[in-house]
Amino acid sequence: MIAPARRPVNYPLPSEQRSELAKNGNALYNGAIHVSKGRQTMTILAVFSNKGGVGKTAAAVNLAYLAGQAGVRTLLCDLDSQCSATFYFNVPPELKGSARSFAKGGKAVLRSVQATAYDNLDILPADISHRNLALAFEDLKHSKRRLAEVLDPLQERYALLILDCPPTIGLLADNVLNAADRLLTPLVPTTLSFEAHRQLLAFAREEGHKERLILSFLSMVDRRKKLHRELASTATDHFSGMLAAAIPYNADVERMGVQREPVAVFAPRSEAAAAYRGLWAELAAQLWPITAG
Ligand SMILES: Nc1ncnc2c1ncn2[C@@H]1O[C@H](COP(=O)(O)OP(=O)(O)O)[C@@H](O)[C@H]1O
Ligand SMILES: [Mg+2]
Repeated sequence: MIAPARRPVNYPLPSEQRSELAKNGNALYNGAIHVSKGRQTMTILAVFSNKGGVGKTAAAVNLAYLAGQAGVRTLLCDLDSQCSATFYFNVPPELKGSARSFAKGGKAVLRSVQATAYDNLDILPADISHRNLALAFEDLKHSKRRLAEVLDPLQERYALLILDCPPTIGLLADNVLNAADRLLTPLVPTTLSFEAHRQLLAFAREEGHKERLILSFLSMVDRRKKLHRELASTATDHFSGMLAAAIPYNADVERMGVQREPVAVFAPRSEAAAAYRGLWAELAAQLWPITAG
């Protein structure tokens, strides 16, 4: 197995933005290159929803792959005891120590990191003990901020952390909201999915988190269904933070489970691969905006 990355991080300059810079000589690349004390600031993106089965893991896996391919040193953190992201990357679902030691943090977390088969992409696997992660946080001081502390030592190696979260609302959600720079929520165009998203936004407001941190995209869109078409077209009226990218309901995404690879690897010309590339480009522009200067 290839060793996980130990090199210092590269500037996370996605290729789309590289060509943008080439076109616009006086544009300043102004998000990712926060160098403090000779070290870059790591960006944390949490793929999160209070609903299960909406395409979180599919998005996290494909975005992590695309980020790595764009030259961004990326770590995908699987926080779900179902270990689906870990499975997709063919990595054993094992942490060094259990969720309890994970919750305490420290450099031990680094020892659980595994390489993937792809450039610039490592994975922090989940294991079954993650089902007790919220309980483990609850037993510690500053229980709503533990995850941020656990992830902090990863600054040394990565420019981008993508968290694949279990469906939940409560202490783990607080931890995710406190740790992440942005949440990314897949929204299936159904009534209940929109309702769940309203609950999440209300929870975030109640807990004092900024709503603008929550971005969403349409997921599993089936254009043959009238309701999907209707709700998809009105999503921006209901929610701020909607990205334009929409992931279609597509058999190639389901095939990831058989191939155990991101879509862009085994079906690079598919509609699904193109949709994830669009999502990544839009997201990269949000995470690391280029400002003229
Ligand atoms: N765009 C899509 N089109 C078709 N099937 C999808 C799509 N996205 C996800 N799936 C399938 O739906 C199921 C749930 O997706 P997953 O990404 O694991 O959701 P979550 O992480 O939100 O629970 C999986 O079997 C996955 O293969
Ligand atoms: Mg999942």
